This record gives sequence, structure tokens and C-alpha cells, in this order.
Amino acid sequence: MTILVTGGAGFIGANFILDWIAGGGEAVVNLDKLTYAGNPASLEAVAKHPGYGFVHGDIGDAALLEHLLAEHRPRAVVHFAAESHVDRSIHGPAAFIETNVVGTFVLLEAARAAWQRLEGSARAAFRFVHVSTDEVYGSLGESDVPFSESSPYAPNSPYSASKAGSDHLARAYHHTYGLPVITTNCSNNYGPFQFPEKLIALMICNALEEKPLPVYGDGRQVRDWLYVGDHCAGIRSALALGRPGEVYNIGGGAERRNIDVVQAICDELAKARPRQGGYSALITPVADRPGHDRRYAIDASKIRSELGWRPRETFESGLAKTVKWYLDNSGWVARVKSGEYRRWLELNYAARSAP
Ligand code: NAD
Ligand code: DAU
Repeated sequence: MTILVTGGAGFIGANFILDWIAGGGEAVVNLDKLTYAGNPASLEAVAKHPGYGFVHGDIGDAALLEHLLAEHRPRAVVHFAAESHVDRSIHGPAAFIETNVVGTFVLLEAARAAWQRLEGSARAAFRFVHVSTDEVYGSLGESDVPFSESSPYAPNSPYSASKAGSDHLARAYHHTYGLPVITTNCSNNYGPFQFPEKLIALMICNALEEKPLPVYGDGRQVRDWLYVGDHCAGIRSALALGRPGEVYNIGGGAERRNIDVVQAICDELAKARPRQGGYSALITPVADRPGHDRRYAIDASKIRSELGWRPRETFESGLAKTVKWYLDNSGWVARVKSGEYRRWLELNYAARSAP
């Protein structure tokens, strides 16, 4: 038995594969294009494991997918591959449409054909888990109730619009063809192996280099933070127990303002590696993100009650683990800070002056 994971060299996919193999799960084939966000070094611990195989390729390559699905006959596809950073989608949306919308469509088509070739119990057991985001629901006001599975879609960035498009395709493939699709919509993740373009990883890495900590706008935007290992456990629950055609929201119940997250990082770093004057002296307000969503929050009661999932980490315990991981893995961090990364920092931050 095999599962096909797409985007497994990225942040969440790599954590998923490491946990899956550590948990004794069946063999994994990881299909990844190795964009700037894909990093085989994150999977070094399993690279030689007999239950792990890597394929360098694009989810938009129909011929490759047909070949892979015929060769491995996976019992499930767990689909992480995406362009995932909102700021990059503002500077260059085309890749988001190409991978998140068109790529997901090509993958769904290939999975449908493979599933239709299966018979009996293999066909009944097949699952396609589509990993998505809470950003498809748009932005909440301060006193709005958290997003539930029945919240209307209202994506605001090219990234979230492209993920919304992929969610609609995944839904339609279940509704029209009966493909056993399960969609998960998760809140903001953090933890080991996160590329240092996202808030928590960026702030830790910048602070350790004594660089400014750029807080967009007034810093009062709210995100609902979930430790990546808890997200991966939620995806495993959805794969094992989720009902085809259903959507499960996954969230940490840990709403925090950005400025408070950055302050918490500074405090955590100060405990592990004290700095004269403290790290918060590096906090620098910068121009806001265009179209910046104000607040995300997830109502995770469905996955809790139906599948028995709940997060194991609090925001504080997860953040402490994360800071420790970045301190202990300076080699991994140094390797991801390529020329491409420096060019991205220049593009996204150089032109931002104080708000
Ligand atoms: P990431 O950017 O760290 O990794 C994406 C991976 O996909 C990379 O390894 C990249 O090489 C690969 N990839 C990109 N285009 C590809 C293509 N065309 N073919 C094959 N591989 C391709 O992303 P992440 O943060 O790990 O997110 C994974 C998934 O989870 C995404 O679908 C994202 O929308 C979703 N998600 C992320 C978060 C979060 O906070 N990071 C929260 C909720 C949902
Ligand atoms: O909600 C789930 C989503 O969370 C995922 O679908 C996305 O893939 C993931 O990137 C994330 O999106 P956000 O835009 O919320 O994450 P990001 O880490 O980019 O930003 C978090 C908040 O911090 C947001 O309000 C913008 C702010 N921010 C971000 C950066 C990079 C800053 O203030 N400064 C920064 O330098």
C-alpha cells in the first residue's frame, strides 16, 4: 500500500511525511516540483528509508501523473502542493493560478481516472485529501463568530482566490463524479522547516541576524495559530475517518494579534539567547500589505466531535519548540537563504517605509 503526497518537500508536507513514516504508515511517494519553497533537506531523515520515494515533477504534468498513479496504485492522494505565500501572490499571481487552480485540476483528473480503474474494496477505500486554507472565507470583524464549514467563500488575495478555485474544483469532482474527496481548511501554521518568508519563521530568523522585525500596518491583525504537527494529525484523521465529500476546518483556537506574536517570539528568544536591550528593540512598523485581511479564526468543532481531533500544543508550547528548532538548525536556515531568498526580501521589504 502506498500514498501519494504532493508538495511533500514544503513546510507542512515535509512535517506530514516525517510524522507519517515515524508513525509506521505505509510507503509514501512524494511528488514535488522543488520551487523555492521545496527543500529536500527537510526530508534528510527519511531520504534513505525504504518506505520513502521522491519524484521531481509538476502536478500540472498529466503524463507524469498518469504514469505515477499507474505504477504505484496509491490508496490515497494527499494534496499539499501549492504556491502558498500571500505577499508573493500580490507581486506575481500567475504561478498561483497555474499551480493552485490548473495544477489541482490536472491532479483531480488524473486521480479520477486512476480511481475509476480501481474495483471493489480498493475503489471504496480510495481517498483524495485536498489540503486548503481558512483564507478562502475572507476576513472577519473583531466580534464576528469564527469561520465554520458553512461560512461563505469570500477570498481577498490572489492566493486565497486560487485556493478557493481549487476547493471548488475538489468539491465538484466529488459532486459530479463521486471522487472520494475530503477537504481540510486550516488556519496559520508554524513550526520546524517553515521557509522564512512567513511571519513566525521570518521574525525568528531576522532577530537572530539582528535585522529589523517588519510588522505590517498597525500590527493588530489577528491570526489563529496552529502548530504544524497538530495540523498534520488533523489531516491524518481526515484521511482515516473523514467522510468523502465533507469539509473539515482545522484550527488552534489560538487567536493572537501579530504584534503580540512578534513580542512573544522576542521574549522566547531572549530566554534562550539573551540580547542586550532585548529583541523587541528590533520591531519596525512598515507599510501594510495591500488588501490585508484583518482577522481569521476557526471553529474546529466539527473535526473535534466527528473525528476526535484536538491540538496537543498550546501556542506557547508550540512557539517554544519552534524557536528551539530554529536555534538548533542554523545549517538548514543558512541553506535556504539563497540568492532567490535575498531577492525576495529586497522585492517585498525594500520599498516599504513606515506606515
Ligand atoms: P510551502 O510553500 O512551504 O510548500 C509548497 C510545496 O509545494 C513546495 O515543496 C513546492 O516545491 C511544492 N510545489 C509548488 N508548486 C508545485 C507544483 N506545480 N507541482 C509540484 N509541487 C509543487 O507550503 P506549505 O505552507 O507547506 O502549505 C502546504 C499546503 O497547505 C498548501 O496547499 C497551503 O495552501 C496549505 N495551507 C498552508 C497553511 C500555512 O499556514 N502554511 C495553512 C493552511 C493551509
Ligand atoms: O491562514 C492560513 C494561511 O496562513 C495559509 O493559507 C498561507 O499559506 C500562509 O502563508 C498564512 O497566510 P498569512 O498571510 O496569514 O501568513 P503570513 O505569515 O504571511 O502573515 C501572517 C500575518 O503577519 C499577516 O497578518 C501579515 C503579517 N506579516 C507577515 C509578514 C511576512 C507581517 O506583519 N510582517 C511580515 O513580514
